[in-house]
Amino acid sequence: MTAPTAAQGGHPGAQRPDDAAGPKRLRILLVGAGGVIGRWVHGALRDRHEVISAGLEPAQEPQQLQLDLTDTAALVQALHALGPLDAVISTAGRARFGPLALAQPAGIDASVYGLGLHDKLMGQVNLALAARAVLRPGGSITLTSGTTSTEPVIGGAGLSLVNGALESWARAAATELPQGWRLNVVSPSLVEGTPEAACAAFPGFELVSGHRVALAYVRCLMSGITGQVLRI
Ligand SMILES: NC(=O)c1ccc[n+]([C@@H]2O[C@H](COP(=O)([O-])OP(=O)(O)OC[C@H]3O[C@@H](n4cnc5c(N)ncnc54)[C@H](OP(=O)(O)O)[C@@H]3O)[C@@H](O)[C@H]2O)c1
Repeated sequence: MTAPTAAQGGHPGAQRPDDAAGPKRLRILLVGAGGVIGRWVHGALRDRHEVISAGLEPAQEPQQLQLDLTDTAALVQALHALGPLDAVISTAGRARFGPLALAQPAGIDASVYGLGLHDKLMGQVNLALAARAVLRPGGSITLTSGTTSTEPVIGGAGLSLVNGALESWARAAATELPQGWRLNVVSPSLVEGTPEAACAAFPGFELVSGHRVALAYVRCLMSGITGQVLRI
């Protein structure tokens, strides 16, 4: 029996041993490619696929793109300019650490939680929403949350807020996506290569190998799952 093609309801990433044509080369946008996690993911994908790297830094090469997830209009425009994609992956998003004692009642813009809500949460949500304009049938979207959605750390309530919301949104949104599009979240623990200062905020957490974390993104891309949160 041969595997279903994308046109038959499979997805473009699905690979089976009996795919006569061999592995399909996917066109992937990776936002946050220059970061700790992004570099691992880029390393796992770049040899087999066309990976367009995006981040806040100005582009240095043709396969790079300067993109700010908080600038929604520019994000929509950049995706249109890129054209059809098989997958969008985000390993991007900023959020602020800080003790609860410093958190005061405030609207989102003035809140200590504002950065995480605007950047890591709504930035990734808007990326996923905007991706629908350019995603090929059966394409996939993979976002990044983090272990604080389920494992609290001191000073991490703002991250827990953002990561929990992102996971809940993705689980629900995945059920409404048409065209066989898939939406998943990778929720890494502390990743190999993370700077010491950030690691110090996670006492008692074991470093997860970057390769292992990257494989979770490969699974989201290639395995056909949707609405899942992969905790690594
Ligand atoms: N490292 C960990 O152990 C760990 C564990 C769990 C979850 N996470 C989460 O995973 C994400 C990535 O972590 P990381 O350690 O790889 O962070 P990082 O090294 O600081 O890298 C973040 C990347 O995201 C890009 N970026 C940030 N804000 C952006 C925006 N508004 N628009 C576009 N690109 C943006 C940055 O672009 P530039 O390179 O251009 O600055 C950078 O490439 C974060 O949300 C973090 O909370 C990290």
